[in-house]
Amino acid sequence: MSTNGSTNGASTAPAYEVTDHTFDVVVVGAGGSGLRATLGCAEAGLRTACISKVFPTRSHTVAAQGGISASLGNMGDDDWRWHMYDTVKGSDWLGDQDAIEYLCRNAPKAVYELEHFGVPFSRTEEGKIYQRPFGGMTTNYGEGIAQRTCAAADRTGHAILHTLYGQAVRHNAEFFIEYFVLDLIMVDGRCAGVMVLNMDDGTIHRFQANMVILATGGYGRTYFSCTSAHTCTGDGNAMVLRAGLPLQDMEFVQFHPTGIYGSGCLITEGSRGEGGYLTNSEGERFMERYAPSAKDLASRDVVSRSMSMEIREGRGVGDEGDHIFLHLDHLDPKILAERLPGISESARIFAGVDVTKEPIPVLPTVHYNMGGIPTNYHGEVVAPKDGDPDAVVPGLMAIGEAACVSVHGANRLGSNSLIDLVVFGRASGLRCAEILTPGERQRELPADAGQASLDRLDRFRYADGGTMTAELRLKMQKNMQTNCAVFRTGETLNEGVTQMADIYSGLPDIKVTDRSMIWNSDLIETLEFDNLISQAAVTMTSAANRLESRGGHAREDYPDRNDDEWMKHTLAWVDDKGAVSLDFRPVHSFTMSNDIEYIAPKARVY
Ligand code: FUM
Repeated sequence: MSTNGSTNGASTAPAYEVTDHTFDVVVVGAGGSGLRATLGCAEAGLRTACISKVFPTRSHTVAAQGGISASLGNMGDDDWRWHMYDTVKGSDWLGDQDAIEYLCRNAPKAVYELEHFGVPFSRTEEGKIYQRPFGGMTTNYGEGIAQRTCAAADRTGHAILHTLYGQAVRHNAEFFIEYFVLDLIMVDGRCAGVMVLNMDDGTIHRFQANMVILATGGYGRTYFSCTSAHTCTGDGNAMVLRAGLPLQDMEFVQFHPTGIYGSGCLITEGSRGEGGYLTNSEGERFMERYAPSAKDLASRDVVSRSMSMEIREGRGVGDEGDHIFLHLDHLDPKILAERLPGISESARIFAGVDVTKEPIPVLPTVHYNMGGIPTNYHGEVVAPKDGDPDAVVPGLMAIGEAACVSVHGANRLGSNSLIDLVVFGRASGLRCAEILTPGERQRELPADAGQASLDRLDRFRYADGGTMTAELRLKMQKNMQTNCAVFRTGETLNEGVTQMADIYSGLPDIKVTDRSMIWNSDLIETLEFDNLISQAAVTMTSAANRLESRGGHAREDYPDRNDDEWMKHTLAWVDDKGAVSLDFRPVHSFTMSNDIEYIAPKARVY
């Protein structure tokens, strides 16, 4: 296919030669979920392409530290039902319980598969997979502390990613690396493929597939300070919005309690799992006041809010009194070297701290997006249609942080992310094997399929306004950081909505200086910014709209959870001017099977 580019009316754009590809399945993203799905589909004999804007082993999963949850019971009693109870409670009852059941039931199998694929887990004396305590993970429905988080020292994501990439290559999946996916190709409500730019040589590619699986991760970079890589721009979420489909529960953004003060680098929750604790300017272990039972291992929303309260009430540490200390200096240096080598190095590099002698300065930092593309527990994207809130969008799946299954609801428990990646990555592969036939004929694409995506590309490639992308991006990030923070009020959120509209209105005045197609980082960053701003807009508006506090959404003007009015998922759409519209979808208050009952809501006490 050869198309004429458009340039907002100017006539300088060349035609693009478009190379066509056909696969049974196209997976977008090569992090933990994308690679697990790619492996599953390839293993099932489906011709599978995996497209990634970074080299697979540089995907953000590589930064996951503390571990992956599964009730293996290697370090004490455990049961998938206890894991399910903790996950429902952690989600503040916004999680879909059928999906949570699927996650927790399948977690042990998914971890043993990883072990057999070759993940080099840390080991107990008897040679079993080592498991550490993590926040909110309990035994016997809240009675004791569970050791449920399987770890490869504090580089668990790194170990998983490298292993899965090797396995996917072994099963002949085809990788398209440093290819940037521009948009979905939607035909009559069905996803039929994706339009792609090869960043390395500037060529344009059209991939047709019977299933597209979005595994594009979160959108942490809407914020000024986050633990996410610069590549975490939620590209798949934005493609879904541009396709006229909704995102779900975007108001729920997780702040990790321990980002390094100043740089935002992650210090794993596993450090508190190994015995680390937080102190304020009075040297007090203040978590004992906020969560008398779980203390420093309460769930992340609780710990982040407690730290913010200490700082706000004048008990922060440092010259400005604006952060908190994390102590590991009482732990045996041998344990630190063996179990927490990565964060010991990060603390040295980014805070100048020797963890065996001094505390680490930390601050709650944006870490994870609970919201995303709504799916069922097979990974199929759903959107309301003809009165059915769970209607499947044909040809489209989403998994991992990009998706909202929803197993994390209003707040994710630490180490439930890696297990979400592999359980639902695996589930999507199983579903593809069930509903697709290798080599099946594909519907013919309309001649202009993908043209809208090329028009968008040209709009930015030839953008010649007066505002640099970085300028608008910074405004968006500061707006999110200030007005959509750990604590929110109607006042801050409405101010945030107003500012976001203003930033959005700056898009037509954007300037891209580089017009070339080969490694044009100016263009790619602008396309990524366009992806980010739509997600920032729906996040801010969804947060302003939810008049209660639940999980990671803490409204000071509505401090209580309100199950009667707000136990429902938010759905958000955005138009091309940045105007957001909202609706709702019921929470699944039922389980997947008959042998476990729905867990009824109650207060969260830690
Ligand atoms: O603290 C951590 O190691 C992060 C884990 C997670 O987000 O699941």
